[in-house]
Amino acid sequence: MKLERMDDFFAARLDGYDEHMKRDIEGASSFYAYTASLLPAPAGSQVLDLGCGTGLELEEYFTLNPGAFVTGIDLSEAMLNVLKAKFPKKNLTLLRASYFDVPLGNALYDAAVSVESLHHFPAEMKASLYEKLLAALKENGFFVLTDYFAESEEAEKAYFQNLAFLKKSRGFQTMCSITAIHL
Ligand SMILES: C[S@@+](CC[C@H](N)C(=O)[O-])C[C@H]1O[C@@H](n2cnc3c(N)ncnc32)[C@H](O)[C@@H]1O
Repeated sequence: MKLERMDDFFAARLDGYDEHMKRDIEGASSFYAYTASLLPAPAGSQVLDLGCGTGLELEEYFTLNPGAFVTGIDLSEAMLNVLKAKFPKKNLTLLRASYFDVPLGNALYDAAVSVESLHHFPAEMKASLYEKLLAALKENGFFVLTDYFAESEEAEKAYFQNLAFLKKSRGFQTMCSITAIHL
């Protein structure tokens, strides 16, 4: 068995990715639109998308707010290229990076959003990301998280412990970092 890097995993599945997400992921026929409806409505709003991928949530958001300014961060250059091609005329800044590694800035965003990305990581990693995110939001800024959740914190811990055990027993390395690139 081979462990794929996260960016390689998504690059290898790019073909049909949007269709798969919309058709096969439970709730996707409504949660992208619902997520977008919670984001700020005024034109000129600044929104940060963590793990934006090909931008399924942004398709819905730009329909509601065509004048929004969005910064998207994602590990996968292949996914970001698809997103860039979808919205050549939008105010879109794309960064190929891990959201754990790049600075998010200070009081820059009216809102942040993340859809189906953060479930890959345990609570300890997310806690430090959330501190960075809090600083990046303006006063009264907010974060919309649409994701899978374990049934309890204990269950989540147990799943991640099991994953760590499986990785160790099979000799898998865990993470690697990549250089941040503006696209
Ligand atoms: C299932 S896709 C979701 C993409 C998009 N939000 C959507 O709902 O279609 C998860 C995305 O998170 C990205 N991702 C995972 N870990 C990341 C990290 N540490 N930093 C940035 N992006 C990450 C992946 O590259 C992938 O594009």
